Amino acid sequence: MSPIRKDVTIGDCRLILGDCLDILPLLGKVDAVVTDPPYGIGFAAQPTKWQRRAGSEARNWDDAIVERLPDLLSRGRIQAVWGGNYYALPPSRGWMSWYKPDAPPSMASIELCWTNLDRNARQISHSIGATNAERVGHPTQKPVAVMRWQLDQLPDARTILDPFMGSGTTGVACVKLGRKFIGIEIDEGYFDIACKRVADAVARPDLFIEAAKMPAPKQEPLL
Ligand SMILES: C[S@@+](CC[C@H](N)C(=O)[O-])C[C@H]1O[C@@H](n2cnc3c(N)ncnc32)[C@H](O)[C@@H]1O
Repeated sequence: MSPIRKDVTIGDCRLILGDCLDILPLLGKVDAVVTDPPYGIGFAAQPTKWQRRAGSEARNWDDAIVERLPDLLSRGRIQAVWGGNYYALPPSRGWMSWYKPDAPPSMASIELCWTNLDRNARQISHSIGATNAERVGHPTQKPVAVMRWQLDQLPDARTILDPFMGSGTTGVACVKLGRKFIGIEIDEGYFDIACKRVADAVARPDLFIEAAKMPAPKQEPLL
Protein backbone atom coordinates (compact mmCIF):
# COMPACT_ATOMS: atom_id res chain seq x y z
CA MET A 1 0.00 0.00 0.00
CA SER A 2 1.33 3.49 -0.87
CA PRO A 3 2.46 5.56 2.13
CA ILE A 4 1.01 8.65 0.38
CA ARG A 5 -2.43 9.27 1.91
CA LYS A 6 -3.13 12.48 -0.02
CA ASP A 7 -1.16 14.20 -2.79
CA VAL A 8 -2.24 17.74 -3.64
CA THR A 9 -0.71 20.08 -6.24
CA ILE A 10 -1.33 23.82 -5.83
CA GLY A 11 0.54 26.04 -8.29
CA ASP A 12 4.24 25.06 -8.05
CA CYS A 13 3.68 23.32 -4.70
CA ARG A 14 3.18 19.62 -4.00
CA LEU A 15 1.74 18.81 -0.57
CA ILE A 16 1.75 15.20 0.63
CA LEU A 17 -0.03 13.67 3.62
CA GLY A 18 1.90 10.83 5.25
CA ASP A 19 5.03 9.83 7.15
CA CYS A 20 8.05 11.49 5.53
CA LEU A 21 10.29 8.58 6.56
CA ASP A 22 8.26 6.31 4.26
CA ILE A 23 7.61 8.87 1.52
CA LEU A 24 11.06 10.40 0.98
CA PRO A 25 12.57 7.29 -0.66
CA LEU A 26 9.90 7.73 -3.37
CA LEU A 27 10.98 11.32 -4.17
CA GLY A 28 13.94 12.65 -6.17
CA LYS A 29 16.65 15.07 -5.06
CA VAL A 30 15.90 18.75 -4.37
CA ASP A 31 18.06 21.89 -4.19
CA ALA A 32 17.38 22.41 -0.48
CA VAL A 33 15.80 20.68 2.48
CA VAL A 34 14.56 23.46 4.76
CA THR A 35 12.71 22.07 7.74
CA ASP A 36 11.55 22.40 11.32
CA PRO A 37 11.34 18.84 12.70
CA PRO A 38 10.19 17.75 16.17
CA TYR A 39 12.67 18.99 18.83
CA GLY A 40 11.96 16.17 21.31
CA ILE A 41 10.97 18.60 24.08
CA GLY A 42 7.26 17.71 24.38
CA PHE A 43 6.12 21.20 23.38
CA ALA A 44 2.98 19.97 21.60
CA ALA A 45 1.97 17.94 24.66
CA GLN A 46 1.44 21.08 26.76
CA PRO A 47 -0.73 23.58 24.87
CA THR A 48 -0.89 26.95 26.60
CA LYS A 49 -4.16 28.40 27.86
CA TRP A 50 -4.36 30.53 24.69
CA GLN A 51 -3.64 27.57 22.40
CA ARG A 52 -6.34 25.48 24.15
CA ARG A 53 -8.83 28.33 23.72
CA ALA A 54 -7.94 28.36 20.00
CA GLY A 55 -8.76 24.65 19.81
CA SER A 56 -5.29 23.03 20.21
CA GLU A 57 -5.22 19.62 21.89
CA ALA A 58 -2.24 17.86 23.47
CA ARG A 59 -0.25 15.87 20.87
CA ASN A 60 2.81 13.65 21.17
CA TRP A 61 4.64 14.44 17.90
CA ASP A 62 7.26 16.56 19.70
CA ASP A 63 8.11 13.95 22.35
CA ALA A 64 11.15 12.50 20.56
CA ILE A 65 13.71 13.66 17.99
CA VAL A 66 13.81 12.07 14.52
CA GLU A 67 16.50 9.38 14.58
CA ARG A 68 16.81 9.22 10.77
CA LEU A 69 17.12 12.97 10.19
CA PRO A 70 20.51 12.69 8.34
CA ASP A 71 18.85 10.37 5.74
CA LEU A 72 16.12 12.94 5.15
CA LEU A 73 18.59 15.82 4.86
CA SER A 74 20.68 13.96 2.27
CA ARG A 75 17.86 14.61 -0.24
CA GLY A 76 19.06 18.23 -0.57
CA ARG A 77 22.38 19.81 -1.58
CA ILE A 78 21.57 22.64 0.84
CA GLN A 79 20.30 21.58 4.28
CA ALA A 80 18.73 23.78 6.97
CA VAL A 81 17.21 22.49 10.22
CA TRP A 82 15.38 24.69 12.72
CA GLY A 83 15.95 23.31 16.20
CA GLY A 84 19.27 21.92 14.93
CA ASN A 85 20.65 22.49 18.44
CA TYR A 86 18.54 19.50 19.59
CA TYR A 87 20.26 17.21 17.05
CA ALA A 88 23.79 15.78 16.75
CA LEU A 89 24.68 17.54 13.49
CA PRO A 90 28.19 18.24 12.15
CA PRO A 91 30.02 21.43 13.22
CA SER A 92 29.05 24.34 10.95
CA ARG A 93 29.82 28.04 10.51
CA GLY A 94 26.55 28.78 8.74
CA TRP A 95 23.96 28.82 11.54
CA MET A 96 20.96 31.09 11.15
CA SER A 97 18.88 32.40 14.03
CA TRP A 98 15.63 34.17 14.77
CA TYR A 99 15.83 36.67 17.65
CA LYS A 100 12.47 37.48 19.28
CA PRO A 101 12.95 40.89 20.94
CA ASP A 102 9.59 40.69 22.72
CA ALA A 103 9.75 37.05 23.92
CA PRO A 104 8.29 36.68 27.44
CA PRO A 105 10.62 35.19 30.11
CA SER A 106 8.82 31.83 29.82
CA MET A 107 9.84 31.51 26.16
CA ALA A 108 13.22 31.20 24.39
CA SER A 109 14.25 34.52 22.87
CA ILE A 110 16.32 32.87 20.12
CA GLU A 111 15.59 29.94 17.79
CA LEU A 112 18.55 28.34 16.05
CA CYS A 113 18.74 26.84 12.58
CA TRP A 114 21.71 24.62 11.66
CA THR A 115 22.75 24.69 8.01
CA ASN A 116 25.44 22.82 6.09
CA LEU A 117 26.65 26.09 4.53
CA ASP A 118 30.26 27.16 4.99
CA ARG A 119 29.62 30.87 5.40
CA ASN A 120 28.98 33.56 8.00
CA ALA A 121 26.19 33.00 10.52
CA ARG A 122 23.14 35.26 10.09
CA GLN A 123 20.32 36.46 12.36
CA ILE A 124 16.92 38.07 11.86
CA SER A 125 15.18 40.05 14.59
CA HIS A 126 11.43 39.62 14.31
CA SER A 127 8.67 40.25 16.86
CA ILE A 128 6.88 37.15 18.13
CA GLY A 129 3.82 39.30 18.83
CA ALA A 130 3.63 40.35 15.18
CA THR A 131 3.04 36.70 14.31
CA ASN A 132 -0.26 36.53 16.20
CA ALA A 133 -2.22 37.86 13.23
CA GLU A 134 -1.12 34.93 11.03
CA ARG A 135 -1.71 32.11 13.55
CA VAL A 136 -3.70 29.17 12.18
CA GLY A 137 -3.70 26.76 15.13
CA HIS A 138 -0.31 25.02 14.88
CA PRO A 139 1.55 25.23 18.23
CA THR A 140 5.01 25.77 16.68
CA GLN A 141 4.07 27.82 13.62
CA LYS A 142 7.00 29.89 12.26
CA PRO A 143 6.41 33.46 11.02
CA VAL A 144 6.26 33.76 7.22
CA ALA A 145 8.69 36.73 7.45
CA VAL A 146 11.35 34.54 9.08
CA MET A 147 11.03 31.81 6.45
CA ARG A 148 11.08 34.38 3.63
CA TRP A 149 14.23 35.89 5.09
CA GLN A 150 15.81 32.44 5.25
CA LEU A 151 14.95 31.57 1.64
CA ASP A 152 16.32 34.96 0.56
CA GLN A 153 19.67 33.75 1.94
CA LEU A 154 19.44 30.72 -0.41
CA PRO A 155 18.91 32.36 -3.82
CA ASP A 156 20.06 29.36 -5.87
CA ALA A 157 17.65 26.94 -4.16
CA ARG A 158 14.82 26.75 -6.70
CA THR A 159 13.11 23.61 -5.30
CA ILE A 160 12.65 23.37 -1.53
CA LEU A 161 11.55 20.31 0.45
CA ASP A 162 10.08 20.54 3.95
CA PRO A 163 9.40 16.98 5.21
CA PHE A 164 7.92 18.29 8.51
CA MET A 165 5.72 20.97 6.98
CA GLY A 166 3.27 21.55 9.87
CA SER A 167 0.96 24.40 8.90
CA GLY A 168 2.89 25.01 5.65
CA THR A 169 4.84 28.18 6.49
CA THR A 170 7.83 27.15 4.34
CA GLY A 171 5.42 26.57 1.45
CA VAL A 172 3.83 30.01 1.86
CA ALA A 173 7.29 31.63 1.82
CA CYS A 174 8.17 29.62 -1.34
CA VAL A 175 5.04 30.86 -3.10
CA LYS A 176 5.85 34.45 -2.17
CA LEU A 177 9.38 34.10 -3.55
CA GLY A 178 8.46 32.14 -6.69
CA ARG A 179 10.19 28.90 -5.58
CA LYS A 180 8.97 25.32 -6.11
CA PHE A 181 7.92 23.52 -2.93
CA ILE A 182 7.37 19.94 -1.76
CA GLY A 183 5.89 19.57 1.74
CA ILE A 184 5.08 16.45 3.76
CA GLU A 185 2.99 16.34 6.94
CA ILE A 186 1.80 13.34 8.96
CA ASP A 187 -1.14 14.96 10.75
CA GLU A 188 -4.24 15.38 8.56
CA GLY A 189 -5.54 18.41 10.49
CA TYR A 190 -2.25 20.30 10.03
CA PHE A 191 -2.04 19.06 6.40
CA ASP A 192 -5.45 20.56 5.59
CA ILE A 193 -4.40 23.85 7.20
CA ALA A 194 -1.20 23.86 5.09
CA CYS A 195 -3.18 23.23 1.88
CA LYS A 196 -5.46 26.18 2.65
CA ARG A 197 -2.58 28.53 3.50
CA VAL A 198 -0.64 27.61 0.35
CA ALA A 199 -3.78 27.93 -1.81
CA ASP A 200 -4.45 31.38 -0.31
CA ALA A 201 -0.86 32.43 -1.03
CA VAL A 202 -1.10 31.20 -4.64
CA ALA A 203 -4.38 33.07 -5.09
CA ARG A 204 -2.80 36.31 -3.83
CA PRO A 205 0.75 36.42 -5.21
CA ASP A 206 2.94 39.33 -4.22
CA LEU A 207 3.08 42.09 -6.78
CA PHE A 208 6.78 41.70 -7.49
CA ILE A 209 6.31 38.06 -8.53
CA GLU A 210 3.55 39.09 -10.91
CA ALA A 211 5.86 41.79 -12.24
CA ALA A 212 8.62 39.23 -12.77
CA LYS A 213 6.29 37.15 -14.96
CA MET A 214 5.42 40.13 -17.20
CA PRO A 215 7.37 40.43 -20.48
CA ALA A 216 10.35 42.78 -20.21
CA PRO A 217 9.65 46.25 -21.66
CA LYS A 218 10.89 46.65 -25.27
CA GLN A 219 14.19 48.48 -25.57
CA GLU A 220 13.92 51.27 -28.16
CA PRO A 221 17.09 52.10 -30.13
CA LEU A 222 18.70 55.23 -28.70
CA LEU A 223 19.14 56.92 -32.10
C1 LIG B 1 7.87 21.76 14.47
S1 LIG B 1 6.46 21.32 13.54
C2 LIG B 1 6.62 22.26 12.05
C3 LIG B 1 5.93 23.61 12.14
C4 LIG B 1 6.06 24.42 10.87
N1 LIG B 1 7.39 24.98 10.74
C5 LIG B 1 5.03 25.54 10.80
O1 LIG B 1 5.41 26.72 10.62
O2 LIG B 1 3.84 25.25 10.93
C6 LIG B 1 6.82 19.68 13.05
C7 LIG B 1 5.72 18.97 12.28
O3 LIG B 1 6.21 17.69 11.86
C8 LIG B 1 5.10 16.78 11.83
N2 LIG B 1 5.68 15.44 11.83
C9 LIG B 1 6.19 14.75 12.88
N3 LIG B 1 6.67 13.55 12.48
C10 LIG B 1 6.45 13.47 11.14
C11 LIG B 1 6.74 12.48 10.14
N4 LIG B 1 7.35 11.33 10.47
N5 LIG B 1 6.40 12.76 8.86
C12 LIG B 1 5.81 13.94 8.52
N6 LIG B 1 5.49 14.90 9.43
C13 LIG B 1 5.82 14.68 10.72
C14 LIG B 1 4.28 17.17 13.03
O4 LIG B 1 2.94 16.73 12.92
C15 LIG B 1 4.44 18.69 13.07
O5 LIG B 1 3.36 19.32 12.42
